[in-house]
Amino acid sequence: MRISVIGCGYVGLVTGTCLAELGHHVVCTDNDPERMASLKAGVVPIYEPYLDGMLAANCRANRLSFSIDAGEAVRTAEAIFICVGTPPLETGDTDLSAIDNVARLIAAEARTPKLVVEKSTVPAQTGQQLKRQLGHYRRNGGAEFRVASNPEFLREGTAVEDFLHPDRIVIGVDEEATERQLREIYRPILEGRFHCPMHLGGCPPTHSPELLVTTINSAELIKHASNSFLALKISYANVIADLCEKVGADIKEVTRAMGLDSRIGPRFLAAGLGFGGFCLPKDVQAFIRLAERTGVDFSMLKEAERVNKRRIDIFLEKIRQALWVLKDKQVGVLGLAFKANTDDIRFAPSLEVIRRLLAEGAQVRAYDREAMDRTSVILPQIQCCREPYEVARDADALLILTEWEEFRQLDWERIHGLMARPLVLDGRNLLEPKAMMKRGFEYHSFGQPVETVTARFVPPQISKVSEASVSA
Ligand code: UDX
Repeated sequence: MRISVIGCGYVGLVTGTCLAELGHHVVCTDNDPERMASLKAGVVPIYEPYLDGMLAANCRANRLSFSIDAGEAVRTAEAIFICVGTPPLETGDTDLSAIDNVARLIAAEARTPKLVVEKSTVPAQTGQQLKRQLGHYRRNGGAEFRVASNPEFLREGTAVEDFLHPDRIVIGVDEEATERQLREIYRPILEGRFHCPMHLGGCPPTHSPELLVTTINSAELIKHASNSFLALKISYANVIADLCEKVGADIKEVTRAMGLDSRIGPRFLAAGLGFGGFCLPKDVQAFIRLAERTGVDFSMLKEAERVNKRRIDIFLEKIRQALWVLKDKQVGVLGLAFKANTDDIRFAPSLEVIRRLLAEGAQVRAYDREAMDRTSVILPQIQCCREPYEVARDADALLILTEWEEFRQLDWERIHGLMARPLVLDGRNLLEPKAMMKRGFEYHSFGQPVETVTARFVPPQISKVSEASVSA
């Protein structure tokens, strides 16, 4: 099928590349000329495992191309996937201006019938508005438009795998013809006969996901409801972690047992600094706003958001407790990306932690294998290091802010020798408290017993006699 993808951000690039991988002829377009020039030159502007190789292979096979001419991309396509940004407004509502622009562009340029697919995350009822706009601005002898919602559930870092081997594909449609066309687009995945060429993450080569056909409103709501539920789950685990600290329990033991209940499931129960990134925080906000606008009490979700913001305060308090005065302390940061396997730092908890450390006068050195270039643009005050050991040199404390597997594998004995004080505050519960203690570190994390060398030292009881002699 001839498909155009409008918007070459994170979702658009993964969607366009994967649709080409399925055998479609895909043209991707974006109104950022620099981005398009870089893509045309074969340079992928984001880090996403497997994406550059797959993109290059599909360009070579002439199934994938990039064009700055959005009008042409619209005219030649049978189906158009809208993948433009839907950032949050000050109010928490979703900024739908890019969707509106694209709707008017499609309406003005189309000369033949088009299937218009909403891939960007949008609040419920956007599809209805989109249909109206397409009708209002329709030119060229009244081309027919069919609208569908097909939310993405792509996690950064595993987006290619998520696209090609999804748990489910949701299509919100209001006509049978639309359903047929979308089934056709996803047929290789749905029939489980699509062999992924790259053995992504050990996924079985054949796997048929469930296709859910819903109304457009339901499909839109499914996306926000899913992400908000994940946010609730994380915040829940984080509050349990706080409770564990108070009663001397271990969050990993608790969440492991909880997760074995198939009604709960083990994922998204990792306690720590909380959720960041460009999706979960903004989707939570947008869902809260949707509830407010429609008069539904969703204070439960507001609370999840509040709990999430508090994670940074709690972490800073742990740092202060351990380091006392932060001014002039050398603090090493391992991990800047909002989560592992991405270079994305949008709404990353790490940035807020670093800003607060700097505000209190600490010196910050940082390392992240993918996210340093982006970070040094917005936080030029910090010193970025080429390797993690440089971060540790003479540091008074080392903070783990992203759960990169690489940090688990570090030579921690070597790090111990490099630091001014062997103090680690693990914001992602990545390391083993006992192992860290055995290596001689003072180690703090979330919801796990504090393991310090000094904590094991039990001061001798002062006897009544000696107390008396002191007072004498
Ligand atoms: C999310 C959704 O998972 C995906 O389905 C959607 O389409 C886009 O938004 P993503 O933004 O890539 O994906 O990140 P995700 O894997 O959901 O993680 C979000 C944040 O939560 C990260 O900061 C991560 O570190 C944090 N997190 C995740 C936790 O703190 N604990 C967990 O147990 C899981």
